[in-house]
Amino acid sequence: MCGIVGYTGLDQAKDILVDGLKRLEYRGYDSAGVALEATDGAGDSRIDVVRRVGKVAGLESELVGVDSAATCGIGHTRWATHGRPSVANAHPHVSCDGRIALVHNGIIENFAELREALVRRGHTFMSDTDTEVFAHLIEEAYDGRPADAATGEPARPGCHDLMGAVREACTHVVGAYGLAVVCADEPGVIAVARKDSPIIIGRGERGSYVASDVIAVIDATRDVVVLEDGQFARLTREGITYTDAEGNAIEPAVTHIDWDIDMAEKGGYPDFMLKEICEQPRVVRDTLVGRMTGGELDIDELGLTMEELNLIDRVYVIACGTSYHAGLIAKNLIEMWARIPCEVEAASEFRYRNPIITPSTLVVAVSQSGETADTLAAIRDARIKGAKVFGITNVVGSPVARESDGVIYTKANKEIAVASTKSFIGQVVSLTLLALLLAQVKGKLTTGQVRLLFSELGNTAEQIQWILDTQEEAIHEAALACKDAHSALFVGRGMGAAIANEGALKLKEISYLHAEAYAAGEMKHGPIALIDRDFPVIAIATKSPVYDKTVSNLKECEARGAKIIVVATEGDEDIHKIAGHVIYIPPVRDAFSAITATVPLQLLAREVALMRGCDVDQPRNLAKSVTVE
Ligand code: F6R
Repeated sequence: MCGIVGYTGLDQAKDILVDGLKRLEYRGYDSAGVALEATDGAGDSRIDVVRRVGKVAGLESELVGVDSAATCGIGHTRWATHGRPSVANAHPHVSCDGRIALVHNGIIENFAELREALVRRGHTFMSDTDTEVFAHLIEEAYDGRPADAATGEPARPGCHDLMGAVREACTHVVGAYGLAVVCADEPGVIAVARKDSPIIIGRGERGSYVASDVIAVIDATRDVVVLEDGQFARLTREGITYTDAEGNAIEPAVTHIDWDIDMAEKGGYPDFMLKEICEQPRVVRDTLVGRMTGGELDIDELGLTMEELNLIDRVYVIACGTSYHAGLIAKNLIEMWARIPCEVEAASEFRYRNPIITPSTLVVAVSQSGETADTLAAIRDARIKGAKVFGITNVVGSPVARESDGVIYTKANKEIAVASTKSFIGQVVSLTLLALLLAQVKGKLTTGQVRLLFSELGNTAEQIQWILDTQEEAIHEAALACKDAHSALFVGRGMGAAIANEGALKLKEISYLHAEAYAAGEMKHGPIALIDRDFPVIAIATKSPVYDKTVSNLKECEARGAKIIVVATEGDEDIHKIAGHVIYIPPVRDAFSAITATVPLQLLAREVALMRGCDVDQPRNLAKSVTVE
């Protein structure tokens, strides 16, 4: 949710910032902008700001005509929260005198009152954003603040130090921020602050870098500092210094990044979404590596002893969007194998309810990005209530990982397309491992059974590959049948019902075709009224204990003229009697069917979206990480 990049060093900043913003664009693409240091003919420094509505490519074209020798600057790509996408609302935002410019990721909860006070003290606002208050607060801390007649606060002198002014401004702000600030009076300096919004700092051979994601700096360095809440950094051409909120020097830990830049490139695929779908066999394998040692399931990172695990008598899975759907799959597995009641809740709901949590409750927080605001808030709430919290995330060192008692990393590696695909598969595989472990600890599955299931779980990698290799044409035909529809229904029973949710979300978010998921058995209680000849019903009807029941529900739809598309098990020829289009998956144990049956639904959604002329990697109105409530 909004991308930040900054550079100060020996090279020209403009291209470095644009390259970084392109890599960060998955975080938001409503508008983009940069602030570059410049010097006028008299040798006086100033800050030049260039902003554009729309994607980074637009900003890049505008910057072609800008002759900037600046070696220090900051950039931003925005996902709008306060204020519509417009040039005025795009970052960077500047102080009244234009000498301070900043980019911000996060949300300022008390911005309305801060803005009112700043206006009272003579500041002029140019945007509707919450961020702009930061520019004026820093300006006051830097230059000095007039007396405020309304509150009786006396005038205060300025500190004339950018880092000190940023620290001071942060004390007035309630909310979340990742912040990078430049000041014309301190050329070559970038001041950085962080609270509840990711900030990465890196030192390369030719300068110092700041970004909201390591992907923007990986070309320059693999050793980065993941700034903690309440920590500040001062970047210069020569180096970086870190301080705490009081200004005391600190030495934060350095994290080594072991993935490479190829992961941020399309590698010959037409889009990131297809590349990431095709990576899924690898994700299954990597997520399972090292998980069975000496014939025993090995999930060391759990942070719970076997005794503590044995005491667990209730599981909550909390997550949002696609990650929530992974939770629906987990519920089936945990209840089936471990016989522990499991509830799945949207984190945004969980955090405002009063769920029944005891010390024997395990809360499993699932988040690809590891920074979703609602999921984080739910984690904090659950821990206060005494639950053990276990995180499942794709991002090493992310807030979800850091705030949980234990964590499994999904090994999907960087996911760039906004719609989650490979992360979902990594999440489902990880949750399956957790379900197996709980079942084993509870004595509901023997070690032998767990080993057998683990080995079948590993086979899903090849099964996904088979789908990728053989079902392209069938998926294309099915997509043609859907592309002109106004609405579509995804149905299934049991695991199929859970999978249907993810199929519907993928279709609607990237093709803008309205889609809903429904338990097939519930169709006749209402939704069947929707059905006519133009209405696609996409069913998950793989060979499972509820196969016959699902087929009879589909017959009811067929009798009313629906276009029926079925994801079925290879070898099921009878299904053609009711389905206009069949996409096959290899025979698979029902427990693992989500890992394979979701793949054709991802591909179907992508095909439909492309046929409808949509951008599959960057669907409108969305951003990859939702760091605001
Ligand atoms: C959909 C999608 C979103 C995310 C949701 C949660 O394709 O990607 O629904 O799943 O925003 O994000 P994370 O998993 O990062 O918490």
